[in-house]
Amino acid sequence: MSTETPVIPDTMRAAVLRDYDKGLQVETIRTPRPKAGEVLIKVTACGLCHSDLHVIGGAIAFPLPAVLGHEVAGIIVELGAGTEHTGLEVGQQVAGGFLMPCGQCRHCAAGHDELCEPFFELNRLKGVLYDGTTRLYSLDGEPIQMYSMGGLAEYSVVPATALAPVPEGVDPVSSAILGCAAMTGYGAVRRGADIKYGETVAVVAVGGVGSNIVQIARAFGASQVIAIDVADDKLEAVKAFGATATINSMTQDAREEVLKLTNGRGVDVSFEALGIPSTWNTALDVLADGGRMVPIGLGAGRQTAEVEINRTVRRSQSILGSYGARTRQDLPAVVDLAARGIINYDDLVTRRFSLDEAAAGYEALRNRAVQGRAVVDMSL
Ligand SMILES: NC(=O)c1ccc[n+]([C@@H]2O[C@H](COP(=O)([O-])OP(=O)(O)OC[C@H]3O[C@@H](n4cnc5c(N)ncnc54)[C@H](O)[C@@H]3O)[C@@H](O)[C@H]2O)c1
Ligand SMILES: [Zn+2]
Ligand SMILES: [Zn+2]
Repeated sequence: MSTETPVIPDTMRAAVLRDYDKGLQVETIRTPRPKAGEVLIKVTACGLCHSDLHVIGGAIAFPLPAVLGHEVAGIIVELGAGTEHTGLEVGQQVAGGFLMPCGQCRHCAAGHDELCEPFFELNRLKGVLYDGTTRLYSLDGEPIQMYSMGGLAEYSVVPATALAPVPEGVDPVSSAILGCAAMTGYGAVRRGADIKYGETVAVVAVGGVGSNIVQIARAFGASQVIAIDVADDKLEAVKAFGATATINSMTQDAREEVLKLTNGRGVDVSFEALGIPSTWNTALDVLADGGRMVPIGLGAGRQTAEVEINRTVRRSQSILGSYGARTRQDLPAVVDLAARGIINYDDLVTRRFSLDEAAAGYEALRNRAVQGRAVVDMSL
């Protein structure tokens, strides 16, 4: 860790979304500075998540212009006021969680960071931090909104509540995926499903988040983890992350295959990690009596899925939505699982793009050409 005070330039490069037709464009904007309770990081990498795609395509409303990117790794370069008891220090390598708890609301007080009201009201709806303003401005002084911390930039202001120190030996680039793909997987398994040792599991859609659900479910003792997707290459790849069987739902009947694999019972827990009606149906179809279905996929705007009333009632099945995780408790746990080699975050990152190539990276994600996770590596 360097003890020298880093030099922070006045301007930086960032991928800005101003117009849905033009997509992400790299611009030089003012370097943000942290206010109370916040930390400035020099970004080393930022993961490309499907949730950004919903915003880039205009399917999920968000104020523009904006800097997206909510899954970051970086080095702390400046601490704002009121951060002296956080344990964070200049020079530290950190991972940033997308769900940035305010730390003050009633849900945060109860430890339920994932329900933080100001996070939704201020950041997700307005693109600002908890004083109601953004930290990002164009060279002309025009405000630019932040989706989470606005990680697709050379520097990023992150509330201290959303940062976890990363020990030496954890890769500074691929650890970017810990703050969303892995943390969401952890939240789904540990909080949403609360998996018990020996339970059987199915994961519908094994992209960046789904692959993490697979490996974290195994780490929590699932006896079987059945991966269901429509892409054979993704199904093949997820075997290395602990999938015990795979089903291509384009060519196979997912319910029939899951019943064959589970003595006709179905799985105790099914996860849905895409956010479309048909994958919800598949996740419900493969569920055992008394089972829990945990959806984490976000719909492209307002979407609904059908749930069979009598089956849900008579078979005592539950649907337990899961958003992110309890960042302050769970992000350090996820970093620890990564550091101890219990989850494999490094091999999950299969593609690296430069900041200038961010738009091309999302295009690849949209075209389903990314296995695991792609990241923007700021050193490229
Ligand atoms: N709940 C949360 O906190 C949270 C956090 C992050 C992402 N998300 C959401 O999770 C979803 C997944 O994100 P991601 O980054 O892993 O996406 P991704 O693009 O990496 O993965 C999507 C996967 O779905 C598969 N797929 C496509 N069509 C399918 C179908 N009909 N049946 C089965 N599989 C199909 C693809 O082959 C791919 O493997 C998105 O909706 C995203 O917005 C939610
Ligand atoms: Zn995400
Ligand atoms: Zn809160």
